[in-house]
Amino acid sequence: MSTIASLAILILILLFWSKNFILFTTYRLPVDSGLVHLSSHILHTIFWTNLTNKKTEPSGALLRQIEKDFGTYDKLKSLMAKTAKGVDGNGWGILGYLPATEKLTVLQCENHEKLTQWGVIPVLVIDVWEHSYYLKYRNRRTEFVDNLFSILNWDNVAERFAKAVK
Ligand SMILES: [Fe+2]
Repeated sequence: MSTIASLAILILILLFWSKNFILFTTYRLPVDSGLVHLSSHILHTIFWTNLTNKKTEPSGALLRQIEKDFGTYDKLKSLMAKTAKGVDGNGWGILGYLPATEKLTVLQCENHEKLTQWGVIPVLVIDVWEHSYYLKYRNRRTEFVDNLFSILNWDNVAERFAKAVK
């Protein structure tokens, strides 16, 4: 085996190991250190700014990226709604930008930290912890998510997206 091939294999092993190491440590640390609540704080901070009383729609660079990665805005809405509604227990539907792939991605997050994809920058989040909808919607999470789309602040999402792609 050539030196270059050996070096490439060694780098791949190190990358694989470091990825698992990061997943392992970031997954375990929050339980012991209170970082679960930091994730909650970050996601809620985004969530409040993702909402508005004005009607907004994605446009410009954000809309172009949505169309590139999901086909249409309606397809993104459908995927985002399905993802948020389908969270097992408490959690979040998340639209995020992954710099490594230069793509938007939709994630499901249990609680505040599980099933996340490290490196993704959240630009739009939907809180589907029961406390976010129970007073008005009782157990009708689906109705809450569907209605939430009418108050999403796509201008804020566009600002977050512009920062994420820099
Ligand atoms: Fe919440």
